[in-house]
Order: sequence, then C-alpha cells, then structure tokens
Amino acid sequence: MDPTNARELRNAFGRFLTGVTIITCKEADGTPRGFTANSFTSVSLDPPLLLVCIGKTAESRPVFETSTHFAVNILCETQKDLSGLFASKDTDKFDRTSWRDGPQNSPLINDVVAWFECSRHQVVDAGDHIILIGRVCGFEHQELHPLGYGHGGYFSPCIEQAVVNASDTHSNLVVGAIVERNGEVLLVPDDSGDGLRLPHSGEGGHSGSLRNLRQQLSDLGLRVALGFLFTVEEDSDTGAQAIYYRGEANEASPSRGEFYALAALPWDKITDANEKRMLERYFAELARQRFNVYFSDGRQGHMDPVDH
Ligand SMILES: Cc1cc2nc3c(=O)[nH]c(=O)nc-3n(C[C@H](O)[C@H](O)[C@H](O)COP(=O)(O)O)c2cc1C
Repeated sequence: MDPTNARELRNAFGRFLTGVTIITCKEADGTPRGFTANSFTSVSLDPPLLLVCIGKTAESRPVFETSTHFAVNILCETQKDLSGLFASKDTDKFDRTSWRDGPQNSPLINDVVAWFECSRHQVVDAGDHIILIGRVCGFEHQELHPLGYGHGGYFSPCIEQAVVNASDTHSNLVVGAIVERNGEVLLVPDDSGDGLRLPHSGEGGHSGSLRNLRQQLSDLGLRVALGFLFTVEEDSDTGAQAIYYRGEANEASPSRGEFYALAALPWDKITDANEKRMLERYFAELARQRFNVYFSDGRQGHMDPVDH
C-alpha cells in the first residue's frame, strides 16, 4: 500500500491496540488544558521517562510545548465519555470533569487507572506532530480496569476476557461471528439449506464454544482473525446466551456460503431475527467506522458507545 495515503496509513496504525489517556497541564494564568491521546508510551525507567505525541494543529499544542509540567491520566473502562469530551474542542472540559491539582500543580483527573506527573524533559519535532518527552516526578496507580482503543473503537479488555471465559463454560450458548472481508460479510446455509445464517456454534441441544466456532471457520477453508466482541445477549426467559465476535477472513474462498456486500445482502433469506438486527447494526457502524459492543438481556440492551 502507498504510505502517502494518509487515510489507509491511519487505519493500519489503528490496528495497534492501545489504552486511552488524557494529557493535562496548566497555562501560565492557571487555566487547565487537556486533550485525549492514545500515543502515550513508556520510554525509560532510569531516568523515568515517558512520551506522548501531540498534533501540531491541536489548539493546546503551544501550551504543552512550553509548560514546565504536565500529567498523563490513564482512563478506566467507565471513562469513555471523558475521552470524548477531551477529544472535543469544548472550552469547558474541566468544568464537566472531576479533577484536582497534582503535587506539581498539573490537573489530575479523578478515578483514573494511573496518573504520571512529569517535568518537560525534551520536545522533538516529528512531522505533523511533536513528541513531548516527560520525566516522571510523581505517579499513582490503582486496581481498576483500563479502557482500550483500537480499530477506531473503544473496548473493555477485561469484559472481553470474561466473555471469552464464559463462552467456554456456559451451557446454553451460541457463539458466532460476523466474518468480514473488504466490507463484505460471510453468510452460510442454515440447517434447512434454504436460509442463510452467520457462522455460529451452538443450538439444537449443543452448547457453542469459541473453540467450535474456530473449528467451523477453519473447516470452511478460511483463516479468520476473530477480533472484537460485537454482541453479548442474554435471553432472560430461557437463560440462553449469544456472543458474536467480529472477525476478518483471508482471501480464500469458503467451501460453503459466500461473502455479501451490503447492497447484495439477501435479507429475506436470513432466518435468524437476531442476526438480521446484528447485520443492520454492523453495516451502519461500518459506514461510520465506529463499532460498539451491544449488551442485552433480551428485554433491554445498551450499547457501549464508541463515538467521539
Ligand atoms: C482515542 C483518541 C486518541 C487520540 N490521540 C491523540 C494523540 O495521541 N495525539 C493528538 O495530538 N491527538 C489525539 N487525539 C485527538 C485529540 O484528542 C483532539 O484533536 C483534541 O481536540 C485536541 O484538543 P485541542 O485541540 O483542544 O488541543 C485523539 C483522540 C481520540 C478520540
């Protein structure tokens, strides 16, 4: 691919999973400033150094370039809204946030997984960003679950792990996948042979598992990287649980079923109403390149929003 294609390069960089931080400092007059960043990296233990990259077009860039101190606040999984707020141009970010002054007077966001307060060590010019290197002068961390970010969306690594575990032990479970390739989705024939379904394991007296789903996909002759969770649904009447992942397939042709683009999707052949709903949501989110994880107990559900 062409490295001058900024959009593609950004998408490829976005495959690297990160946490989410808010970088903060104070202006000379004491006004707090902050923005969301996932370019945070630990650099050195001796001396204790870290870095963050700031876009040259960020409004707060000149403040960070000259401020003697700044802080890195690592967000926990319940702080997605804060990430959105600090990625915006809102002028009242700190009025809507619970925060306090750190030992060196940098704004510290409350209830984060960890914070590091730093003195400015070095500023390196790097293309359309500057690299701000800080020397850590104070830090704290606590047992909270961090917020994850990758592939254009937020995720909760700990929730995902719990679901993976559940999928190996739950007795009334369907584990399925939206298998994508170049914007198209794989549908396979259902048991009757007349309808179509997403690839899945479980049902008909058998409980599904991630292992079985993987086996099925490999029996189709596909190599599929199962990635993010897409849906976790529990039917509160029957206790049945459905877990669907998003996965990406290699270029091989499947031995059964085929890949469909949105425009060519045979909606009336898709026999499972839940899967129909999932596909509608999938294509809407694909268009926005923003994915949510949907949790439901059959009566009501909620999205973990990923918009920013
Ligand atoms: C998850 C996420 C990660 C981001 N990471 C960075 C980053 O590392 N560096 C950066 O300059 N902007 C990053 N941004 C964008 C800034 O948060 C955004 O441009 C913000 O408006 C900058 O604030 P300012 O213009 O008020 O300074 C990120 C945004 C999001 C949602």
